[in-house]
Amino acid sequence: MEKTIIQRLELKFRDAFRCLGIADSFPVVLVPSSKNIFGDYQVNGAMAAAKNLGRNPREVAAEVVSFVSHDAAIAKLEIAGPGFINITLADTFISSALRLDNILRVPRERKLTVVVDYSSPNLAKEMHVGHLRSTIIGDVLVRLHEFLGNKVIRRNHVGDWGTQFGMLLAYFMELQQTGQEISWELKNLEEFYRKAKIRFDQDEAFATTARKFVTKLQAKDSTMMQLWRQFVQISLSHCQEVYERLQIKLEPNDAVGESFYNNSLPGVVMELTQRGIAVDDGGTKCIFFTPEELEAHVTTPFIIQKQDGGYLYATTDLAAVYDRIHNLNADLLLYVIDSRQSLHIRQLFATVRRAGWVKGSTAMVHVAFGTMLGNDNKPFKTRSGDTIKLTSLIDAAVAKAKKIVHQRHPDWSSERSDALAEILGIAAIKYADLSKNRIGDYVFNLDQMLAFEGNTAPYLLYAYVRIQSLFSKHGLAMQSHGTQEITLDSTVERALALHLLRFADMLLQTAKENFPHYICNYLYELAVMFMHFYETCPIMHGDAAIRDSRLGLAALVAQVLATGFSLLGIVITDSM
Ligand code: ARG
Repeated sequence: MEKTIIQRLELKFRDAFRCLGIADSFPVVLVPSSKNIFGDYQVNGAMAAAKNLGRNPREVAAEVVSFVSHDAAIAKLEIAGPGFINITLADTFISSALRLDNILRVPRERKLTVVVDYSSPNLAKEMHVGHLRSTIIGDVLVRLHEFLGNKVIRRNHVGDWGTQFGMLLAYFMELQQTGQEISWELKNLEEFYRKAKIRFDQDEAFATTARKFVTKLQAKDSTMMQLWRQFVQISLSHCQEVYERLQIKLEPNDAVGESFYNNSLPGVVMELTQRGIAVDDGGTKCIFFTPEELEAHVTTPFIIQKQDGGYLYATTDLAAVYDRIHNLNADLLLYVIDSRQSLHIRQLFATVRRAGWVKGSTAMVHVAFGTMLGNDNKPFKTRSGDTIKLTSLIDAAVAKAKKIVHQRHPDWSSERSDALAEILGIAAIKYADLSKNRIGDYVFNLDQMLAFEGNTAPYLLYAYVRIQSLFSKHGLAMQSHGTQEITLDSTVERALALHLLRFADMLLQTAKENFPHYICNYLYELAVMFMHFYETCPIMHGDAAIRDSRLGLAALVAQVLATGFSLLGIVITDSM
């Protein structure tokens, strides 16, 4: 299959539409049918075309159908309702296309360079729940684009520069001078930060030192720089531990933080002011916009330099975007950032457009997401109102998973239970997040995400384990199945097979809209369909041909599930 099913059908219909003489002004609009009585796919474009031609839509649909040239993939075309065209695929096409390499192959027009900005915590603080969504949504987009064969550059735009470092450095010096145990303090970063903050707030002399240190740091004072570097290293290694535990594809080299752009900041401000894009407003340099430019009812300016000459978050992001477009040659820039920063991103993109930095084909997208909420529907916090550390959240999910594993398998050794609990707990957190439309907020609920029923990680992993154990119980190797012709005797088998063939189209749609929940929904449907198949079509059938065909289908489902899990960054297990 050098094209996906949708691509192939769309092309066919585009040709047919062209015969009406309107092909290029009216899209075919081909989508999977909502119900199987409407066939497998549905073309909706004939209605708009008819309206434009001032003709009867059913007549236009009939004409389009008459223009569709023969295709072995199509068994039947029907006109329905006001002018829909329903397409039913040929069973022979479905069964002959059903091979793993075919299912997993995603045709691509050209290789893109995709820069994904994600995770990006502010350093010198421990990662907290607020960092989870960007980290795991970004990770899926990275995995997806790699799977699609694109060149992916990961950018962990960490906040590794700024006033908070003065405070930390001052506290560090103080401890060192009083001969206190420093390595221990640093291992507990949060604690260190908290204590430094208390000193800063309570002791004026300390605060003055801290401010002085910021200035020294900005002037690249060597002692300060050396200490700062240590701090960044320690913070990053903490992040790295979290990434590894969560199986996030971020490596230390991907942490190209704010400080990386320090030397480019004066140039950015100079270019924008010289070209009149940024203006002086009472000493600050800012960019003013129209509401149209920001696609919002606001015109808030983008401040790129403070009165005292200091640079800001905005300046750094401008330098970063320039680097990504011009040095990394990005075709697509994804910013996986909380929707509360949407104004900042609009200002950033508007400035880039105005400066003409975008090349013809470069696309910039804010992959925005909502907030994770606690049971009280408020942003997730501890009872005392503190932010929850990411590691505590993971520990809580794993502990809960451990209880569940213990209930199901009281006889398992604790190593075995622990290993599964770690997989399940983390899979549950990730899946619960990824399976929701990222735009909205959602309530973090451990019971729900660890349930074995419904659209959850345990349910999906369990479907996979079922297939695995079916093979292992009968001493069969999964890899040797699914290569022979599969016969589709029942509607259940046919529906399952067709769903498998939709994998590539689903991935392309996910990449187009940056919605990981499309992958989750697909996998959930696949698992539900498989369970239905498993219950209605005995796999270990007496007839060897039927048995082989069904084993083949089951093997394909397991392998597509496994591929889906790997795209979601979810680790699979063989027993649970
Ligand atoms: N460090 C920022 C924060 O914690 C997020 C950075 C997102 N990336 C960016 N290019 N602005 O809010």
